Order: sequence, then C-alpha cells, then structure tokens
Amino acid sequence: MYLTKEQEGMLDGEEGAVVEKLMRLLVRLGDIYDADKMISVGSVQVAGVSYKSIGDPGLEFLEDFASKGAKVKVLTYLNPAGMDLEDWQELGIPADFAEKQKLIIDAFKKMGIVITATCTPYLAGNLPRFREHLAWSESSAVSFSNSVIGARTNREGGPSALAAAICGFTPNYGLHLDENRKPNFVIDVKTDLKFNSDFGAMGHFVGAAVKNKIPYFEGIKEANTDNLKSLGAAMAASGAVALYHVEGMTPEAGLMNIEGLERIEFGEKELKESYEKLNTGDEPDVVILGCPHASLREIISIARKVEGKILKKPLWICTSRAMKETAQRMGLLDVIEEAGGKIVADTCMVVSPIEKLFSTTAINSGKAAQYLPGFCKQKVVFGNIDKLLEGK
Ligand code: F3S
Repeated sequence: MYLTKEQEGMLDGEEGAVVEKLMRLLVRLGDIYDADKMISVGSVQVAGVSYKSIGDPGLEFLEDFASKGAKVKVLTYLNPAGMDLEDWQELGIPADFAEKQKLIIDAFKKMGIVITATCTPYLAGNLPRFREHLAWSESSAVSFSNSVIGARTNREGGPSALAAAICGFTPNYGLHLDENRKPNFVIDVKTDLKFNSDFGAMGHFVGAAVKNKIPYFEGIKEANTDNLKSLGAAMAASGAVALYHVEGMTPEAGLMNIEGLERIEFGEKELKESYEKLNTGDEPDVVILGCPHASLREIISIARKVEGKILKKPLWICTSRAMKETAQRMGLLDVIEEAGGKIVADTCMVVSPIEKLFSTTAINSGKAAQYLPGFCKQKVVFGNIDKLLEGK
C-alpha cells in the first residue's frame, strides 16, 4: 500500500508508540483488503463504549491508551454507553456498573473524544457531507451515513475506529470505493408503510434476504429520515447491510444502473410475517422507544401523543444528550414525565443492563427486536408506536 512520508513516519514511531501501534493496525487492515492507500477521514464514531459490551479488559485497554497520551486528530463521537451518564441512579443502574462506566468515559475524555454517546451522531452535531470519508462503527449510523447522506464508511470495529481517530486515516477499501456501492438486488415494495415499525419490519425481512449485499428500493411512496434510520438499522441487524439506495430519495440512487438485477417483492404478506416473527412476548414491563436514538421530531410526536394521559406502562425514550436537553427546553420532558415516561440519554435498551430491570420489553424498532432476546434476555412485544403507547 502506498504511504505518504507523514504516514511512513507514523509507522516508524515518529509520533510515539501509540500512534505507531495503531498505524500498524490500519496498515495490516489495508493489506488484508488490498487497499491502495490511506485516506483522511472527516470524523470517527467509536463503538465499544458500554461497560456491558467491553467489560474490564476493554476498560484496561482504554485506560492504558489514555495514560500513554493517545489523542484523537479528528472529530470523534462515541456510541451509546451503558447508562444515562447523569441520571443513571434514577433508572436503577447498579452502582458498581456505573463506576466502571464512568472510568471508560474518563479514558475517552482524556483522548479528546466528544462525550456525546449516540448512534445518531448526524443529529447531534456531527453531520458529514456527501462523499466525505468517515470511520464510523455503529451499524445503523454506518447505514444512515452511507445511504441517506451519501458519505462513505466501512463498518469499523472499536479498535479500527479508534486507530482512525488517533491517526486521522483509514485504508481505502470497501464502501470508500465507487465500484463497491452498486446495488445487487431490487426490492419491489408493494405495500404502504406508515410507521417506523413498518420500516423496521421491512428492514428485518430485506436484510435477511440480501445478506451483506446492497438493496435498491423501488415503490416506497413516502419516508422521512426517521423512517429511513429505522429501515437501515433493521437491515444492518438482520443482514449486515451497510448501504442501501431508495429510488427518488437517497443521493446515489439516481446514479445506479439496476437493469437485470434480481428482484425481491415485499408486500402485505411479508410485512405481516415480519411483525409476527419479531414478536416473542405478550405483556410488556416497559415500552422503550428510540432505536436508533430518537430525533427531536420523534420526541415531539411522542410528547403530543402522551400529553395529558397517564401511560399504562413505564416508557423510556432513548436519545442523545443534545436531543434530551432541547426537549427539556421545549417543556417536552415535563409532558413526558407527567405521563409516566422518561427521556434517557447516552444509552439505549440494548447496551444498558435492562435485563436486571425487566423481562419483557415493548419496542417499535426492527433492530432492537432482533437484539433484545439474545443480548438482554428479553421477550419482545414489537408493534407500532400508537399501539405501544395505548398499551395494546
Ligand atoms: Fe442505537 Fe442501541 Fe439501537 S446503539 S441503533 S439504540 S441498539
């Protein structure tokens, strides 16, 4: 792989042992995938933040790096942590877990990383541009930035994202290249989709059908960015889909040739079957919304739905700190709390230890429906937001 003088120097230890080690990791990665060179990244999103996911070995690794003076060179955000970093006690998070989680956050802070723990960095101050190269980790954020924004990122692991943040580069392979962004299947959407859960159910079906490949959607009549983030998240979960195109909606769709591609139909029957498959429970202990992290538009809409009511079940809305604070300023937090809900920042239903608190969770996310049974030992009630908030 071609390296510039600066990159050669980093590899030779001119910028210290940490940079040398991480540059080696990037070069090895580039060699494996046959990258021709390194490219600068505009921003990084690092996964592996929750103590639940990385445990003591991850904490020790991060503390070691931070103590050796590792510093990021580009704007770097974090994936959700294992708890609301401010209101964790209120959520019932155990104190020993909280203590470790705070140490992880301290290590990231020392490295100069923005302490915004979210899977929707594009809604919280880190908006890439079309064709900007990134090194993001969390699968729904990767899908959204590639597909809806038209930026370019592979799905980075925790260490490779951290390496890109500290070195400022990533190897040029995979979805950074034009030829790897072409669709492999056309998805013929033959049914109307209204709720995020409809998009999540379709994403679950399509991801499993195309596995690791790139779908091109035809026939989606209307979708906002919240619907698209639900769709992308569910496909990433069921089929590791990191890029999709939607006719007339996503920026690269018009550049793609879909002639002769295999077509897969998604109609009323597939939608119904997907809902049935994702449902594994009956009586929820809690309703948790915001996977991927809720946008302000979603929080406003939930607040309008619950205003003046008392919810039958406790409600959590997972989001970024930035959205929570804006909701608070708008008085939406009070509306939601009066109805019996909470806005939970910095974390989500999958990476926080909810198995210590609940056993059946109601959700409207196609991604969370796939992760909660295994990762959090939950039974899942999967449905649209109106039904969930009515307790049906
Ligand atoms: Fe985000 Fe957690 Fe869902 S990281 S995409 S809210 S599983």
